[in-house]
Parts: sequence; structure tokens; C-alpha cells
Amino acid sequence: MKIIRQHFSTIDSTNDYGLRNARLFDAENVTLITADRQEKGRGRGKRVWFSPENKNIYASFCFFLPDNRKDVGNLSQLLAVSACEVLLKWGLQPIVKWPNDILISNKKIAGVLCEVKQMDANYFIVDGIGINVNMSKEEMANLDKPATSVREEVRMIVDQSQLLRDLQLQFIIDLQGFIKDGFRPFFDSFSRFVRPFLKKEIQFHESRRIWNGIFHSLNDDGSLNLQLPSGEIRRFYAGDILF
Ligand code: BTN
Repeated sequence: MKIIRQHFSTIDSTNDYGLRNARLFDAENVTLITADRQEKGRGRGKRVWFSPENKNIYASFCFFLPDNRKDVGNLSQLLAVSACEVLLKWGLQPIVKWPNDILISNKKIAGVLCEVKQMDANYFIVDGIGINVNMSKEEMANLDKPATSVREEVRMIVDQSQLLRDLQLQFIIDLQGFIKDGFRPFFDSFSRFVRPFLKKEIQFHESRRIWNGIFHSLNDDGSLNLQLPSGEIRRFYAGDILF
């Protein structure tokens, strides 16, 4: 399995491009869509993903999996784990805010948006990631939530292409492992990145409801157990931790 990259100077959203062009992509390999800037970069929950030119990584890994797989919901966590492993190698200390936000010192450095579409007997997956790479503090000051970039963390301008190459290498290895053995081999790594949130009181946002409780534990399928004030433990497959 290899990565075939398609790069654009401007695009609406690398995820949207992937979703629109699925039928043109090689079914045996991964097509990686990247861009210098996005005009309609999207985050989870219909949020806007700030995508200024040549500052950050905007990348969508597009591929097919048979539609009998029950674990495609873990692909966003898989990409988050791959990105965290790369950031670790770059000397940073990333953590994952469940399900797949990547933070450093409680500031967001990267986010994953994984979208799945049924196509014949396959799932077509668009696993998109935005990594703040060379944005300065000033450029991030107007974002709605505290954010940081690799540049701010290592205190120098960084080689964005090298970071993307490292991510490509890591993700293709991880994806092949996932295809063969599922999410289980990545669970320990995922738990390690999530650990700082474990046993903490959190506010949890799920569809239209906010739950207060303690982040009790993770299940090996990546879902979250929230302990409610009544003592009941409730399992969540989707949602967001609010600060
Ligand atoms: C989030 O944290 O809310 C997810 C952000 C995902 C952003 C990336 S940038 C590349 C790809 N294209 C998009 O429009 N979104 C994802």
C-alpha cells in the first residue's frame, strides 16, 4: 500500500475534495489530498477550521475499506495517535482530548475530522487532519479556543514538508497495522495520550445534552466511560469534552 499525493495551492476543503472525487481514487492505495490554504476548512461539529496560506498542514488521507468492518469509527483516533507519535518524535508532549483533539499545554495544536461514505461494498474514508505548524501567537490570538502551533512550542520556524513526510510515513504504517489487526494494537498508545484527562471531572457534550461527571475510563474500542454523580457509568461513542 502506498500514498499517492495530490497537492493544491487553494482548495475549498481537502475533506470535501476527497468526498467529491472518491470514484477517481485508486482503490488499493491511499490518496492524500493536501493544500496550501483552504477557503472552507471544516472542523468537527460544523465549526470553521482556520486555514491561512502556507502556515499549516491541511491533509486528508482517502482510502477504501470493506464495509463489513465494525471499527471504522476508530480511524479518527488512529490518525490522532499517528500525529501524536510524530509530534513526540519532534520533542513535543502532545495529549489527546477525547475523542481526537490534539493539545499541548491545554492548547489545541491539531484536530481530526474523519468522514465515512458507503460506496458499493466498501466504506470510503476521508481522514482529515489540520496541524498548526508555523502560525504565530498573534495569528492564533483571534481563534475561539486557546491554540498553539509547532513553531510556538519549539520556538522556531519549522520545516512543514518534513513534518508532513513524517506523518505520511507514520500513518501508512499505522493504517496497515489497523487493517490487519484493528484498533487493539493502538489502544495502549491512545490511552497514554488520553491519560491526563482520566479521573478528572469533565463536562461532556453529546448531541444536545451536557453531562457532568468523571472521565472514568476508556474501553478498548476507544469509547469513553463517564461516571455520573449517581455512580452510574455511561458509555459514549461520540461527543466532546468541554473545558
Ligand atoms: C477539529 O478539530 O474540529 C477537526 C479539524 C480538522 C481540520 C482538517 S484540515 C484538513 C481537513 N479539511 C478540512 O476541511 N478539515 C480537515
